[in-house]
Amino acid sequence: MKILILGGDGFLGWPTAMHLSQAGHEVLIVDNYLRRRLCLEQSVSPLFPVPDLGRRVQLWREITGLSIEARIGDLSDWSFISSVMQGFVPDALVHYAEQPAAPYSMLNRHAAALTLQNNLMATLNVIYGVREFAPACHIVKLGTMGEYGTPNIDIEEGWLEIEHKGRTDKFLYPRQAGSLYHTTKIMDTDMLWLYARVWKIRVTDLMQGPVYGLETYENAGHEELYSFLNYDEIFGTVLNRFIVQAVAGYPLTVYGAGGQTRGFLNIKDTLNCIELAIRTPAEPGQLRIFNQFTETFSVNGLADKVASVGRQMGLSVEIKSIANPRKEAEDHRYIAAHTGLLDLGLEPHVLTDERLADIIRLVMRYKDRIDPNQFLRNIKWA
Ligand SMILES: NC(=O)c1ccc[n+]([C@@H]2O[C@H](COP(=O)([O-])OP(=O)(O)OC[C@H]3O[C@@H](n4cnc5c(N)ncnc54)[C@H](O)[C@@H]3O)[C@@H](O)[C@H]2O)c1
Repeated sequence: MKILILGGDGFLGWPTAMHLSQAGHEVLIVDNYLRRRLCLEQSVSPLFPVPDLGRRVQLWREITGLSIEARIGDLSDWSFISSVMQGFVPDALVHYAEQPAAPYSMLNRHAAALTLQNNLMATLNVIYGVREFAPACHIVKLGTMGEYGTPNIDIEEGWLEIEHKGRTDKFLYPRQAGSLYHTTKIMDTDMLWLYARVWKIRVTDLMQGPVYGLETYENAGHEELYSFLNYDEIFGTVLNRFIVQAVAGYPLTVYGAGGQTRGFLNIKDTLNCIELAIRTPAEPGQLRIFNQFTETFSVNGLADKVASVGRQMGLSVEIKSIANPRKEAEDHRYIAAHTGLLDLGLEPHVLTDERLADIIRLVMRYKDRIDPNQFLRNIKWA
């Protein structure tokens, strides 16, 4: 198949490009380096440098003999995306290209406006690009479990049947996000659903939990092909931050009571989920939603796990609760359905102590590059 990866320089986009290239697909990547630029602007940097896209695709060719094409450009620029869609005419596209950090979106008005404008315009242009130049193209869109928030009822897989005054109908599951970034993902879903109904586009929206890990099937043994690992308060996700803090001998900073519970998954499972979604596309006019995670952990549970494995490896690990900079429930119900991808054949890689130790070992090799000033940046929701 011809597959377009939007946001292909990112944490998930680059591994996805390699995975689909290795599987025999013709892959074109698009990215505008927004993520790299925002990191520079905020004076945060990943644990180790990663080559630019030109170098990455060159390395990929040298190692595997396979070619991935890459184009640098902004998806919120219609002339750019329309020329890409018209030239390539993808069978499927994977849309990762958004500003993905909740703390960044809550930083100030400028960051909020950038997040809103970038994320919604990119999605709108993708929809129009598909309609005008590749109407059969299956859009695989990355949503987030954060769209649902933490309701006091079970979280279903995208849809909820409601009975009201003796009648029933099916609606998108009620969503209540905890940040502007997550709110843009809700708006994306609403836009996709509108155009699925009126233009019969085919969409799979993957409500993904935080992803951990760096090693994939394709980059094993080639660290120069790894994704970047951010451990700062803005772009770093909780497990990555805890691991780097443990290696640096810095206390694991739990926000508030630490009962915040989320669904997590290994990066290999992200790749498998994307491949499964592409292999069995949504029907024209269908917005198919899967909850993409394999197991749930509370923040306290993750901190305890990192501390326990870290100590077994000789690290001195402390856990410290700090005032929660976010506005969120710290002790709540979290029962979320996630059978759709399992039914398609997903075989989860759960977070064993051995897998965690592998990531800790990788971070230990870069211990000298850890900058503890990046752990806390004092970004408050209110
Ligand atoms: N990483 C996770 O744990 C996680 C969890 C849930 C959902 N997601 C979603 O998955 C997607 C990818 O996440 P990620 O962690 O790889 O983020 P990332 O920031 O590493 O990747 C996104 C990429 O898109 C690019 N991009 C952004 N706007 C663009 C534009 N207008 N034009 C061209 N390129 C643009 C960025 O430069 C970046 O390389 C995001 O949409 C995110 O919301 C990620």
